Amino acid sequence: MLPFSVVLLLLCATPLPTTVALPFEQKGLLDYGKSINVEGLVMMLMNDEEEGSAVEEYYKPEQPTCPFGCQCNQNVVQCSDLGLHYVPYDIPPETRLLDLQSNQITEIREDDFKGLSNLYALVLVNNKISRVHPRAFMPLKRMHKLYFSHNQLTAVPKNLPSSLVELRIHDNHIKRVASGAFSGLGSMNCIEMGRNPIQNSGFEPGAFDGLKLTFLRISEAKLTGIPKDLPEGLHELHLDHNQIQAIELEDLRQYESLHRLGLGYNHIRHIEHGSLYYLQNLRELHLENNRIPNVPGGLAGMKYLQVVYLHSNNISQVDVNDFCPNGFGVKKTYYNGISLFDNPINYWEVVPATFRCVSNRMAVQFGNHKK
Ligand SMILES: *[C@@H]1O[C@H](CO)[C@@H](O)[C@H](O)[C@H]1NC(C)=O
Repeated sequence: MLPFSVVLLLLCATPLPTTVALPFEQKGLLDYGKSINVEGLVMMLMNDEEEGSAVEEYYKPEQPTCPFGCQCNQNVVQCSDLGLHYVPYDIPPETRLLDLQSNQITEIREDDFKGLSNLYALVLVNNKISRVHPRAFMPLKRMHKLYFSHNQLTAVPKNLPSSLVELRIHDNHIKRVASGAFSGLGSMNCIEMGRNPIQNSGFEPGAFDGLKLTFLRISEAKLTGIPKDLPEGLHELHLDHNQIQAIELEDLRQYESLHRLGLGYNHIRHIEHGSLYYLQNLRELHLENNRIPNVPGGLAGMKYLQVVYLHSNNISQVDVNDFCPNGFGVKKTYYNGISLFDNPINYWEVVPATFRCVSNRMAVQFGNHKK
């Protein structure tokens, strides 16, 4: 079995599979515990090296140094759970993976990572870090992955290296994302910034300017609407467990390349007609556990839509053309998951032809579980 964190990391790094399995109950895939499985990272590091992104290895006959209490092996330095208050000063310069998770670090100082120009991944998860010197990350010119979840950051760290592809700052104290917070970062895979007390007004104009990004998660925050001006080119946007009230006409206009959109567990009562029109590439839409009174308009026009979660809403009626277009050949992929349970629908009034563009009968979860 793969360690959980590996699954996670793949989630962030790989393109969406063409068919999606049917987990009607979301198991909170990203709800991992407070630690990161370093074996998973080492595996990934090795894979990346096979793919040729490796830095040349030098033959070093002498015994390299290793910070007191840490374990050093093949450019992996593990210093987790040591009660450290600061980053050790004698980390070998050839280190590729530095694991400092679950310590008592409160501050990252200017020279903490000096000379670590080969570092690929830095794990700072589960410390008490609230201050990061603005120049601290500048030496990390090859860093791809920064894991900073479960700390006390109040802002996105400054001067992140342009090589960064994955940033996890889940569960911190971030309320504001400053204009240009990600400037200098070109093209990234994944930013996970859920469980921060951030409101829509917390994103300053231009917060994401210049950033290209595939996957963004801002779940479990304090959003009351879909944020504007998120990064360009998003394929996945996860905004579940917020307080979003409605989807308005222009809200999704900038996010045309979305494949997956997660808006479950919000307070959505209203989806303006036409607001989903922009999402012509959408594969998967999560709207479960809201207060939506009807099947949103526009689903039938989405050629590639395969999974729609609408369970636990306030839908009382399903029309024969809510999901499927009129006429053949319009829809390129059939649905393989539609969930409608836990809605006040009179199921016997729904005509079977409503689901004429569904791959098989098992793909529709109906049954009324309302208490
Ligand atoms: C559900 O919809 C009905 C009208 O169809 C409305 O009276 C009721 O207030 C709605 N319930 C919620 C929780 O929004």
